[in-house]
Amino acid sequence: VRWRRSPRGLPHVPRQLPLDPYPLASRRVEKSYRVLARRPTDPEAHTEPAPAALQDEPPAAQRLPRAETRMSALVSTCFFLSIAGSIAFCCCYVFLNIHTADHGFHQNIALGLALATTMFGLGAGQILLAKHLEPPVKAVQHRSEHHSAPDDEHAAEEQLIGGMTELGIAQRRVLRRTLLTALGILPLPFIFTLRDTGPRPENRLRANAWRPHDRMVDPDTGAPLKLGDLAVGSFATVMPEGRTDTSKPINAESVVVVLHLPPGSNHPLAGRQDWVVNDHIAYSKICTHAGCPLGLYEVEEHALVCPCHQSEFDVTHGGRVMYGPAGHSLPQLPIYVDAQGYFRARDTFHVALGPAFWSRTG
Ligand code: FES
Repeated sequence: VRWRRSPRGLPHVPRQLPLDPYPLASRRVEKSYRVLARRPTDPEAHTEPAPAALQDEPPAAQRLPRAETRMSALVSTCFFLSIAGSIAFCCCYVFLNIHTADHGFHQNIALGLALATTMFGLGAGQILLAKHLEPPVKAVQHRSEHHSAPDDEHAAEEQLIGGMTELGIAQRRVLRRTLLTALGILPLPFIFTLRDTGPRPENRLRANAWRPHDRMVDPDTGAPLKLGDLAVGSFATVMPEGRTDTSKPINAESVVVVLHLPPGSNHPLAGRQDWVVNDHIAYSKICTHAGCPLGLYEVEEHALVCPCHQSEFDVTHGGRVMYGPAGHSLPQLPIYVDAQGYFRARDTFHVALGPAFWSRTG
């Protein structure tokens, strides 16, 4: 766009910008120029009124072509969408209760959707803004040197040493030590705030649903397991009677398998001689690696196999790990058979069930 002076010394502004591919950008330049032209630059200009043609010119926003107006509205809608998503996210976080039976599943979906709306609105708005409304400006930024000049480095060193000398830090030993200590323990408050990252598990990780003399029942039918129900080399999944509701985590983690070992194959650990009854032995069904349910009993190998990462537990040697990434033996449950022939727990588990955790030793 070429600008020229009118005979009266005021700028002449063309009404139309022919063949301009970026009309919005040109209008911005035009508007800026008009503002500059109205500023008084000398006392005479201050007294001279601006020509009526310039004063009456409608604002640039009113002269936007339709397509640009629509695009501008679309971009604003995207940004409004993003704002609504952010507000919805905050509301979901504050008002939705995550301690529900589905462990906050629906709340997580709501939070995810709100966040997705926020990001989508912002991203789409920016893309449309950049592609359709921004003037194409080519910007080049030259890289600067990544280090200071040697003279500057030298000067900075001298300044630092000079400042420390002036402060007398080297001589004031107490001051120096307290300063260093204060800086050293500065991260501590932030570390302590990690306590707020969630409720403490307390004893929950070590708790289980089994009580002494609990009868072992099928979790689906509730039928008690009886001596003689299992053929040699087979196994059954059981839970404590009355606590088969697997929606409760403590029950779900307490599932047990009872195996009928080949006669004489068991090698009980010290103190566990009476934990087995008639070659029947019971172990936790939850893998000690990452908590998958053990699904396969290899009779010839005497191994319970985890389908997730192929850990194998030797059921004839106290559930020790034979192979795989599991770091702990499978917890064994002492059992007996009552007068009616039903299997019962002799005691509860005395070690934590399932995956290892940071303070677990058993
Ligand atoms: S969960 Fe069983 S081996 Fe990984």
